[in-house]
Amino acid sequence: MDKKYLILEQWFKIYTMRKMVKYIDWDDRFSVDVRQIDRQHKHFVGLMNKLFEAMQSDKKDAVSKVIDELVTYADAHFANEEAYFYKFHYDDAEAHIAEHRKIRAEVGEFLARKDENPFELGYSLFDLLEDWLFKHIITMDKKYVSCFKEHGLH
Ligand SMILES: [Fe+2]
Ligand SMILES: [Fe+2]
Repeated sequence: MDKKYLILEQWFKIYTMRKMVKYIDWDDRFSVDVRQIDRQHKHFVGLMNKLFEAMQSDKKDAVSKVIDELVTYADAHFANEEAYFYKFHYDDAEAHIAEHRKIRAEVGEFLARKDENPFELGYSLFDLLEDWLFKHIITMDKKYVSCFKEHGLH
């Protein structure tokens, strides 16, 4: 295909994606009412916004750096939740860990393409994580709250 056409197509794709993402405001509806977990979810939202800002700045290295930071933080957060599942013998651990595994795999696929075009990846990742984050908190994370609280985590 014509190189000029490909560049134009990519530019248009990024332009459209840029319009789709926006700054995320934390909303208390997403609170699980466990201080440590809320703090981590809020930090994650903060990193998403850092990614959004880096993409607005058009700096490739900055985008790439925040993507790494975001992925590392998500991994640590999942590991933290999972450690409590084992410690508290949480009933629904298996299904929840499978969800974490699924998102790790999806993000992994994105990361394999990071060096090709961090901007395109940044926007797709933002879109994926925003959609996933809030759905996951509401449908999965909120379910472990009573178990965590019974074991003294508030
Ligand atoms: Fe989770
Ligand atoms: Fe979580």
